[in-house]
Amino acid sequence: MKITSKQLRKIWLDFYKERGHVDIGGVSLIGDGSTGVMFNVAGMQPLMPYLLGKKHPMGTRLCNVQGCVRTIDIDSVGDSTHCTFFEMLGSWSLGDYFKEERTKWSFELLNKVFGFPADRLAVTVFAGNENVPRDDETAFYREKSGIKKENIYFLPKEDNWWELDRGPCGPDSEMFYITDKKPCGKNCNPGCSCGRFVEVGNDVFMQYEKIDDNKYIPLKQKNVDTGWGLERLLVFLNNLSDVYLTDLFVDVIGHMEKTLGIKYGEDEKITKAMRIIADHTRTAVMLIGDVNGILPSNVGAGYILRRLIRRAVRYARDINLELDEIIDVAKIFIEKVYNESYPLLLEKEEYIISELLTEMEKFNKALEEGRKEFDKVIFGIEKHKEFAKTKGEVVPDIISGKACFRLYDTFGFPFELTQELAKERVFDVDEEGFKKAFEEHQEKSRTASAGTFKGGLADSSYESAKLHTATHLLMAGLRKMFGPQVMQKGSNITPERLRLDFNVDHKMTPEEIANLENFVNDAIKKEIPVTYEEMSISDAKKSGAVGVFESKYGDIVKVYSIGDVSKEICGGPHAKNTKDLHHLKITKEESSSSGIRRIKAILD
Ligand code: ALA
Repeated sequence: MKITSKQLRKIWLDFYKERGHVDIGGVSLIGDGSTGVMFNVAGMQPLMPYLLGKKHPMGTRLCNVQGCVRTIDIDSVGDSTHCTFFEMLGSWSLGDYFKEERTKWSFELLNKVFGFPADRLAVTVFAGNENVPRDDETAFYREKSGIKKENIYFLPKEDNWWELDRGPCGPDSEMFYITDKKPCGKNCNPGCSCGRFVEVGNDVFMQYEKIDDNKYIPLKQKNVDTGWGLERLLVFLNNLSDVYLTDLFVDVIGHMEKTLGIKYGEDEKITKAMRIIADHTRTAVMLIGDVNGILPSNVGAGYILRRLIRRAVRYARDINLELDEIIDVAKIFIEKVYNESYPLLLEKEEYIISELLTEMEKFNKALEEGRKEFDKVIFGIEKHKEFAKTKGEVVPDIISGKACFRLYDTFGFPFELTQELAKERVFDVDEEGFKKAFEEHQEKSRTASAGTFKGGLADSSYESAKLHTATHLLMAGLRKMFGPQVMQKGSNITPERLRLDFNVDHKMTPEEIANLENFVNDAIKKEIPVTYEEMSISDAKKSGAVGVFESKYGDIVKVYSIGDVSKEICGGPHAKNTKDLHHLKITKEESSSSGIRRIKAILD
């Protein structure tokens, strides 16, 4: 390995520090809900307010290495380049320098520091449209910096514009390495997908704010947002053709090779599975071990995490890799690969491993059952086909929506998995039919539960409603004390007492119990009204509401707020005001099961 990931991070940061930038470090991978994006997809995302003009406490020249998660291409993972987690090497000018310095430094890095020959470098520049003129200025400076004129391509907005759903945005200029591949035709350019040009990084000139789908306004300040992919650069700099051969992955790939007694790269199917297991396990470790770590669930970011873990398990089963081996892969990432750059993972290792294992075992069981059922479905269709054939009829190779829904509902078999398995067997699935069956089912359960109380309440008295509100306050207190990964794992309420289960990994000390009691009683004293709003699950998640038992909810959920103390997706009912709770006393704290504590409390 010519350059390791650890060296590359340092080279990047040092280069910018020498040019007056401050390393601001990376932040959580989980979006804060304000941008409508579940995960951080780019280094600029946490910097939005500053790109829009707010003064950054560290100045106007910043740099960092930011972990990002992009799952839009999840189906492409398994090839040699796609990853769901990656690190973005970033640098920013907040109303400071602009195109001249930016292009000069990019060339210096590529050519002088990394040693890419100038004639192997190409760039793209925004071609202009009815709203924003062609970016001749960047083209001029790119050429001045050392890029050959014939390697500067003007491309339209689809290729050369960076924006998220809303917020700061602008024309960008991407840098490419020109490989040995022959041009695919007369018009071969970095925008085509023939593989001759591979992107190394992106310099965005942020001068606009997107405030509506078609409305852009000029920004007060002209910013530069630069983002280069660490993984990708490692591949080029080490003359590799596969991200899984970089030092970020070689150890886990080596471990799987040893366990399986197989050489990576020899068998296409096994190689794909190894890559998926490595990629998905890495992302799952990062998401659970994040400062704002999440856990698998049935909605939002938790659902994506669940899908990643479950996909890894599925591919592991395909190549006879035991769950223990996936755990070993996770441990290699935590202990060896990211021990220095993500030390929090080491701190949370036990927690990460136990949550991973729980989810994997749960899924393994569902998978065993579901797969048998899936085979039965296919068998049934084949039989039907044979029979129809005797009558001269043709039955299409399609799995009905109802059958997909039964697999999902009765066997916990994810729809995506049915789709994937069907694809392998060259069957279609009736997606519309599945959606319809899903909605019908939701409608039925809504009707069935109308008029009854949810949330673990055994009856409908106001006493129980008050204890239910107390449960929300306890959860808010626990999350404040132990972190946002703490979730409600069970609740049972009678008019006399509440019982609450939650994931905290140690016996609570008397001091912690007293602090928790005080937290709840303070909220009671503040006489806060309890309010609720109805909204879609995605809006609820965006609003920062905590969701538990999500799989039971319909599309529209109630979000109960207790001032700014607590915000939870919940069916109710609740006390009208915290003052009605009078005073809470925790009567017991005990173990419920492994990693789960239980509290009993009364209102006196
Ligand atoms: N924000 C830019 C990108 O992600 C740098 O490509």
